[in-house]
Amino acid sequence: MHILVTGAAGRLGSKLVQLLTAQGHSVTGVDIVGENVIHADIGDFNAIRSLVHDKRPDFVLHPAGWTDVDGCAREPEKAIATNGFGTQNVALAAASLNLPVLYVSTNEVFDGKRSDPYREYDPTGPVNPYGYSKWVGEQAIQHINPRHFIVRTSWLFAHGGKNFIQAILGAVTAGKPLRVVTDEVANPTYNDDLADAITKLIQTERYGVYHLVNEGSVSRWTFARYILDRTGQSEVPIEKISIKEWQRASVPPTYAGLVNLAGAHAGIRLRPWQEAVDAFLDKEGLLKA
Ligand SMILES: NC(=O)c1ccc[n+]([C@@H]2O[C@H](COP(=O)([O-])OP(=O)(O)OC[C@H]3O[C@@H](n4cnc5c(N)ncnc54)[C@H](OP(=O)(O)O)[C@@H]3O)[C@@H](O)[C@H]2O)c1
Repeated sequence: MHILVTGAAGRLGSKLVQLLTAQGHSVTGVDIVGENVIHADIGDFNAIRSLVHDKRPDFVLHPAGWTDVDGCAREPEKAIATNGFGTQNVALAAASLNLPVLYVSTNEVFDGKRSDPYREYDPTGPVNPYGYSKWVGEQAIQHINPRHFIVRTSWLFAHGGKNFIQAILGAVTAGKPLRVVTDEVANPTYNDDLADAITKLIQTERYGVYHLVNEGSVSRWTFARYILDRTGQSEVPIEKISIKEWQRASVPPTYAGLVNLAGAHAGIRLRPWQEAVDAFLDKEGLLKA
């Protein structure tokens, strides 16, 4: 297949480009930054439509987005312009050629008020501007392009990118005391596992909504504890705090764990998050326990 990948310089997009190319697909990467990609802004309807018509891919993979959650809270209009209307542009461009599209969304489309994990067709209810902008993108994809996949994921950790694992380990190296929230819950998800699952999903033509996350949801504090324990730093203390004590521009949904029912039904499962973290640490040469 010839696959057009938006956000191709980003964490997930670049991994998808690498994996799809290794699988023998021909890939056109698009982003506003980076090398070896076509520079185009998904917010520019004419540019995206012309690009898709010019390249004539068989499939459009759309992980591009403004992922700075606190930035989105400070500039909600920019968030909607990129994540909402940018996604509408991608959906319209793909639909104009009857191309299937896969949009990568987030657990932050849910309100976080439950105590058990969200299933794919549970009601959404974003509580912050990032979540709202991604939800607008979901609406656009669903209404405009019948041949769509929506893949929600959470707490990605990728090699070479900014992520929670690197932040925790970096803070310890810098000698900073660790304070981590206990009341924000989601699924830590290994970027490589997600990319692998997406490449399988797009072969199925089983369009719909999917929760592709490593199995099991956990608090940020427990995730941090696990990272330190598995890197041989069990003696390092982590103070337990609540979201209210962690001042930031965006307020996350508290309990936004996801369960993968639809993917499992199609034979696509991701391993438990602990195994995925171990695999990540091992590849980084950091697994000690
Ligand atoms: N990371 C997570 O924990 C997480 C969790 C749940 C869902 N997701 C979703 O998963 C997807 C991939 O996430 P990621 O972590 O790979 O994000 P990422 O590393 O920030 O990659 C996104 C890419 O899209 C680019 N982009 C931003 N605005 C654009 C525009 N107007 N036109 C074209 N490209 C644009 C970004 O450029 P800049 O770097 O210049 O912004 C970046 O290269 C996103 O849609 C995100 O919402 C991520």
